[in-house]
Amino acid sequence: MITLPGLIDPHVHLRTPGQTHKEDFLTGTSAALAGGYTFVIDMPNNAIPITTSKLLKEKKEIARKQIVADIGFYFGSLGDNLEEFAKVRNQVFGLKLFLNKTTGNFIINKKSLIKIYEAYNINKPILVHAEEDVIDLVIDVCKKTKKKTHVCHVSTIESLQKIIKAKKAGLPITCGVTPHHLFLTKKDIKKLGTFGLMKPRIDDAFSEFVWKNLKWVDCIESDHAPHIASEKRSKQPPFGVPGLETTLGLLLRAVSQDCLSIKEIKRLCYDGPAKLFGIKQNARIEVDENQEWIVEGSKLFTKCKWSPFEGWKLKGRVRKVYIRNRLVFDNGKVLAKPGSTKVL
Ligand code: DOR
Ligand code: ZN
Repeated sequence: MITLPGLIDPHVHLRTPGQTHKEDFLTGTSAALAGGYTFVIDMPNNAIPITTSKLLKEKKEIARKQIVADIGFYFGSLGDNLEEFAKVRNQVFGLKLFLNKTTGNFIINKKSLIKIYEAYNINKPILVHAEEDVIDLVIDVCKKTKKKTHVCHVSTIESLQKIIKAKKAGLPITCGVTPHHLFLTKKDIKKLGTFGLMKPRIDDAFSEFVWKNLKWVDCIESDHAPHIASEKRSKQPPFGVPGLETTLGLLLRAVSQDCLSIKEIKRLCYDGPAKLFGIKQNARIEVDENQEWIVEGSKLFTKCKWSPFEGWKLKGRVRKVYIRNRLVFDNGKVLAKPGSTKVL
């Protein structure tokens, strides 16, 4: 049995309010606990994006009643709510900007990027969904404004190379990588069909490169993006895959294959995100690191009940989870009462 600090996932989509048929704060944070996460930060691309302090307040009030793990939130912007930034200064962990098309079509006009950066005078990261076509622009704006920039789910060699170069030049830039970009191959994606659709998409060459350059990656972020099976099967399937309950098992399997160390898991899933977002949490997990298990979507806590890793044999079962010394998860059972943990 190994003990680790409660893991932090700085990138989840728990879909509430607006799309509670996909996930809600209870199922989403239950999935977090089962996966060893005691703190998650939720994205603003809800059905009605979180771009006003009022919408943020309402979202937090719903969360407060449902959560079984601690949670924080990001603010969103399309460049037309700059006056709201000051109001949410102490209410969020950062600002999320989408520069490419993905679920919700909540995408900013490239020309407004600099204007949004200049208006954001909060010393917390600006997170960007910035793929290949816009990474230069983001690095340029980061250079001009010197504002903390976190590039979400890096997924190509070229982008990671550019980020490494910017880091070496001293820019305040960080990046995260998802478990699906680390572990899924084009072959898996083919088999998954529309269930394997996510943004950014998988690039086989990247996985090999990122494993060799992991020291430049600041955190692992699941990009837990639940959509229900009928939606994924439909003519216009939404982008995204769930990830909260499989990430640690995939990483511990990599440890058993000598591809990773426990120390590195702690850096990528706790120290890295804690430092990036200034999180201090008194939480710990006990993991049976040798226990093998097979991923079965129907047994997951996430409301979408499927996984892109269906049938995979993973390693390491989360046995006990403690938040502020209280046992909140015990051998597959959530013990915390909805609303008993904190919105931070
Ligand atoms: O695949 C994705 N799904 N990528 C994103 O950037 C958003 C996410 C979602 O919200 O479903
Ligand atoms: Zn995302």
